[in-house]
Amino acid sequence: VANISSVKSLSESNAAALIPSYYHTLTDSDGHDDVAHELAALIPIIDFSHLTSTDPQIHATAVRQLGQACQDWGFFIVTNHGVSENLMKDIMEKCLEFHNLPLEEKKEFFSVHNPLPAIKYTTSAPPRSIGENDLYWIDYLQFYNYHNQCNFPNKPPGVRETAMEYSKEMRGVARTLLEGISESLGLKPDDIIEHSGFDYGYQKMQFNLYPPCPQPDLVQGLPPHCDNGFLNILIQNGISGLQVKHDGKWVNVNPLPNSLVVNTGDELEVLSNGKYKSIWHRAVVNEKETRVSVLAVHGPQVDKEIGPAPGLLEKEKPLFKRYKYGDFVPFQLKVMSPEMPRPLDSLR
Ligand code: SIN
Ligand code: FE2
Repeated sequence: VANISSVKSLSESNAAALIPSYYHTLTDSDGHDDVAHELAALIPIIDFSHLTSTDPQIHATAVRQLGQACQDWGFFIVTNHGVSENLMKDIMEKCLEFHNLPLEEKKEFFSVHNPLPAIKYTTSAPPRSIGENDLYWIDYLQFYNYHNQCNFPNKPPGVRETAMEYSKEMRGVARTLLEGISESLGLKPDDIIEHSGFDYGYQKMQFNLYPPCPQPDLVQGLPPHCDNGFLNILIQNGISGLQVKHDGKWVNVNPLPNSLVVNTGDELEVLSNGKYKSIWHRAVVNEKETRVSVLAVHGPQVDKEIGPAPGLLEKEKPLFKRYKYGDFVPFQLKVMSPEMPRPLDSLR
């Protein structure tokens, strides 16, 4: 659909004739409506201040809860994380301001191709592409940061400073969570961090926009997928849309003010030797309101060979081969339905 400039403009133009090209073609045997509303209240909540507590008992309990959340859900909500509410508000505003820029301005970053550019704006395509022809109700800007190279967009005004600060905060939160997760596996707190080169790892930030959609039951924001990385941290405006797969059912993740929404990714599944599975999730859209989310993905050092944490292999067999993230990524761009084999499974 060559003349689609962004989902935002499509949504605003009421070009109803184009909407059918967004009907999703994946056979999702789960169905759009199979949502287990009763499970939404059971999503684990992790009190970050307990994790950082100097009281050994409080800390140990939080570590246990964190491990349980990773094992049972691969998904949890973090409260009392210490990230300033103003900063969270600011980054959400910059995200919206970016999408409100004239298309000409956004087009500077426009790209649909691999290899990934450092900063990329695109529309209608999920980050881990599925079929070439499937269109999704999303516009996003993504940018990659490494320890020695940061790629922040230069517009809208002020986004660089805000994103820089937010990026640092997210790395800090991810690092502390990863230490707790390492401990929950019976490892030393910095085992996963050291083995994966986390401090030299990549961070991807993404500004997502899901405009109102006239036919929300036939169109998806993002198809079912698992994420790259260890721990991916999402904040969102007050609008629901994210769903996670739990016990074979989709569960709505309803925004809790000022909380961080965290999911486990492929590399955590590998490092934990299969104990903490990369979680399936998707984004649905709605008819009335624009949904905005800001995502921070955290992964390993891309040129370091990683595998199940060595400390775990004293007692168990490795379930995954060792690999370099940078080699693995190109062939991850496939599928995605919870019934299909995942790219990750090729490493078993
Ligand atoms: C994602 O899965 O990458 C983002 C989901 C969301 O915007 O809720
Ligand atoms: Fe995702």
